[in-house]
This record gives sequence, C-alpha cells and structure tokens, in this order.
Amino acid sequence: MLQMLEPLPADPILGLSAACHADPNPDKVDLTVGIYKNEKGECPVFAAVQEAQQSLVNEETSKAYLAAAGDGAFNQGIQKLVLGDGSGALADGRVTSIQTPGGCGALRIGAEIVHAAAPNAKVWVSDPTWPVHGPLLGSVGLEFRSYRYYDYATHGVNFDAMVSDLAGAQAGDIVLLHGCCHNPCGADLSLEQWRVIAELAERQGFTPFVDFAYQGMGVGLDEDAAGLRLLVSRLPEVIVASSCSKNLGLYRERTGAAVFVCADAANARAVLSQAQSAARRVYSMPPAHGALLAGRVFNDDVLGALWREELSAVCERINGLRSSLRHALESRCGGNFAFIETEKGMFSFLGLSAEQAQRLRNDYSVYMLDSSRINVAGVNAGNLDYIAEAVSGVL
Ligand code: LMR
Repeated sequence: MLQMLEPLPADPILGLSAACHADPNPDKVDLTVGIYKNEKGECPVFAAVQEAQQSLVNEETSKAYLAAAGDGAFNQGIQKLVLGDGSGALADGRVTSIQTPGGCGALRIGAEIVHAAAPNAKVWVSDPTWPVHGPLLGSVGLEFRSYRYYDYATHGVNFDAMVSDLAGAQAGDIVLLHGCCHNPCGADLSLEQWRVIAELAERQGFTPFVDFAYQGMGVGLDEDAAGLRLLVSRLPEVIVASSCSKNLGLYRERTGAAVFVCADAANARAVLSQAQSAARRVYSMPPAHGALLAGRVFNDDVLGALWREELSAVCERINGLRSSLRHALESRCGGNFAFIETEKGMFSFLGLSAEQAQRLRNDYSVYMLDSSRINVAGVNAGNLDYIAEAVSGVL
C-alpha cells in the first residue's frame, strides 16, 4: 500500500533552508526560514529563557501529561501579553485560550473551532500570505477566498483593493489578518487602516482571525498589538493564533496559544471545551517544556523585565539591518529600496523574479524564496556587501 506513494516536492521554505545547509560554498547566505539570527549568524537562546530553564530543570518533579488546555500560568500570561493588562474583554471574563504546539497548532485549533461553529464559513486570506496558511486551515475543510493586499509596484499595502475585496466577506466568514510583521511582505496596516477593518467587521459581521506570530519583532510588544487590540475593543468575537517561537526564541519547543475573545463568559467556556476536544482528536495535549519556560518568564518580574529588554534589542537590531540593507542595495544596484526600511519584522520582498532568485542561489549561494522574500535577520555585517553584490549581479 505504501508503495503507491510518490515523493512530494520539498517545502517551499524549509526545503530551501535545507538546500542552503547542504551547500558547501563558505560564502553561502541563508535568508530563507524566518528565524532570528544574531551578528554571528546564530539563532540564540534568550538569557531570560536560559534562566527559566535552569530553574525549571532544578525544580521539575514530573513529566506527567499537561491538561489538553495546557499550562495555566502560560495561558494567563499569553492572554495578557496579547490583549494587554487593561483589556476590557479580559476583565469581563470573555477570553479563553488553549496552549498549542506553536502558532501552527493555534491556527489549526482555531480552524477546527471555526469549522465546528460554521462549517460553511469562508476564510479570506491576504494575497500574498504565508504558504502554510492554506494547508493548515484548509485541512479542516474550510473554503478560501483571497483579498488583495500587497502591491508589488509600490511595495506597500493596496488598502483600497483590500477593502473592496473584503466587501464580499459576510457574517459567518473569517478574515485572516496578520497582526504585525506581515509574512511574507513585511508591509503592515496602519492603526487607521485597522480602524477601517474593525468598522467593516462590525458592519458586515465577519470574524477576524489574527495570525500573531511576530508580536514584539516589529516595533514593540504593545505597539505591535495595537491593531489587534483595537479589533478586540470593538468586536464581540476575535480569534488569535499567538506564537512564542520568535519573540521568546522557542521555535523548536513548539509553544503557542489559540486565544478566543468571545461574546460572554459562558460562551468562552463552551469554546474552551470545544478547543480541548479538538486538541484531543488532533494531538491530545500540548508539549510542556516551552510553555513552562514562557510561563515563568511571563510571571516573574525580574525574568520578564530581562526578556523585554532582550526583545527590544532584537527588534532594534532588525530595524538597523533594514536600514543597512537598504543603503547597501541602493549603493550597489541603484534604484530605490526605501521600502525595506519602512516595513516591519523579519520579511521583505526584494522585488526580484523567481528566475533571479534562482540565479542568486545557483551563482552566489544566496538563498531566498522564489518570491524574493528574504529573512532580514539573516543579514549581518559580514555578509551585507556580498548580498548586495549578488543582487546587483542578477539585476
Ligand atoms: C517562515 O515563514 O519562514 C516561518 O514562519 C517558519 C515556517 O515555519 O515557515
């Protein structure tokens, strides 16, 4: 029976990262998968997470299963992190969450809940969007519609087109939004534009589902949450897929949460029970280690302050790299790369063709996605000039 199976093409992101890993060229540059890398090209462990880990190792007395909803301290911490300490929805007790295996698990559990509530719901996704959104949300049987988002000519959000397409989203539909640091383009909505989306949702009755994988990687933890919090302040229901992969560097620990803002506390309890049941049938219960570390960081003043400081330094460095890359490309290639500096988070489209991206790989061992999405955090002082030279070579 297994002999019926043919090999599938490599994952469009992880496959390229693996190809770069296997490339023997000492000058190779990996700008593929979205992980934060420091000046040495390493993906570091936050000192606050190291400290939490030390104390966890010393104190942990059991590896018994967590409950399907996950760790209580983690859930409380993540709800506050996402919605803010002063959130009215939190105070009203109409928020619930379930710890999930990473942001992907949160997207999947969110999709399960949407499907349970409204099997015919359509999910509106931005064009372009993260390539895994389709398989993750579609695997529960939801149907997709796309809305225009990124304008390749201006390197910015085509907000008029977005609003015009979302006019088709109806009550019972889901609109998937990137909370900040849009993946793949890095072009985010302004607060004024979030306000317009909130008005559309109020008027048309669709439910926003916010993929919030990069909180704290754009401007800051609270600043990056401003649009999402505005939706929550205005709407009865919002679903959020939160991830600790990037902002706590817990990538391989698969630490995330599906956060549900519900109409009232009774409904929040019902949603939690449905989410627990969905988790049970998909993966039973979440992995503990990362969430226990995150819970300690969230709930300890000293560790929390240390983490926030480290995260702001990460954010500042990425923004500095954006500026350096812009200037390096402009001086090598001419043209205007100012957009790299105004975008947020790890990603940017360089505006190259798939053929040019392939030539960068083949001729220079500079790896980016075929869409020319780069992980800005893969740039450092040691490879900046080489990247600019390579891009100029294929332009
Ligand atoms: C990315 O887009 O590179 C990250 O979200 C990692 C992944 O799983 O694709």
